[in-house]
Amino acid sequence: MKVGIVGAGMVGSAAAYALTLSGSVTQVVLVDRNAALAQAQAEDIAHAAPFASTTQVRAGDYDALDGAGVVILAAGVSQKPGETRIELLDRNAAVFRDVVGQVLTHAPQAILLVASNPVDVMTDITTRISGLPAGRVIGSGTILDTARFRSLLAGHLGVAPRSLHASVLGEHGDSEVLAWSSARAGSLPLADFAAQMHAPLTEGARAHIDEGVRRAAYRIIEGKGATWYGIGAGLTRIVQAIAADQQTILTVSIRTPDVLGVGPVTLSLPRLVGRNGVSATVVPELDKGEADALRQGAEMLRDLAGAVTV
Ligand code: LAC
Repeated sequence: MKVGIVGAGMVGSAAAYALTLSGSVTQVVLVDRNAALAQAQAEDIAHAAPFASTTQVRAGDYDALDGAGVVILAAGVSQKPGETRIELLDRNAAVFRDVVGQVLTHAPQAILLVASNPVDVMTDITTRISGLPAGRVIGSGTILDTARFRSLLAGHLGVAPRSLHASVLGEHGDSEVLAWSSARAGSLPLADFAAQMHAPLTEGARAHIDEGVRRAAYRIIEGKGATWYGIGAGLTRIVQAIAADQQTILTVSIRTPDVLGVGPVTLSLPRLVGRNGVSATVVPELDKGEADALRQGAEMLRDLAGAVTV
């Protein structure tokens, strides 16, 4: 499968690199208004391919997106130290009003995968601009937050992250909800597993993990100016599910008719991802606190997206 990436900055190029090393797609095409940047990124990543895969990597204009199965939208600005994702909205919405139309002209059949922040609102805007069915416009959403949650939880419990089912839901941002109550380790509820591992999940441990997930991007941005490796791998994971028609469950963002009585709203829930994008949503088990937090975040996202004309 051919994958297009619009935006050859740190996130777009990290996704191109991760896709190339994964060998899960045949072609990667980088498009950027800075053609020299796109060309340099493509050439550099193409030099990595021989060590890992037969993926072909090149740069091009929008017409090079023809035939792409997925187009990743990573154009726009990213957070500066101390800046929230939501503060990027006006600038990135203006960028998308141009980009989305150009992509659809050259790759009308593609599934659109949104990475630019604030990703939930940007996914909502892209869905409305494109007129595509909601399942064909996917935001990376909380796939990275879920990975962060599982990684920190795994470190506390002394178990591999892949042995954990623990999700982050809602906004990819400050209001995100860590779904502790439905988390499992193997087939066991988390508290039972933690007891067996003599690693109790005390209030302090939970607060430390919550802060570690919720503030991860801010910490990384303070240290190196932006994040890109985690999101690049998260985008690759979503592309793999589409390219191989995996029908796997991933916490990703799509425009959803109703979330706990709020909608339509675009946020992350566990979704079935395969060849045609998102084909189903898995309604998660939540306790009252989690449901209230998810509903509040949904109301904020609905109102924020509703204020953006496309
Ligand atoms: C982060 C960016 C992708 O959370 O929002 O690293």
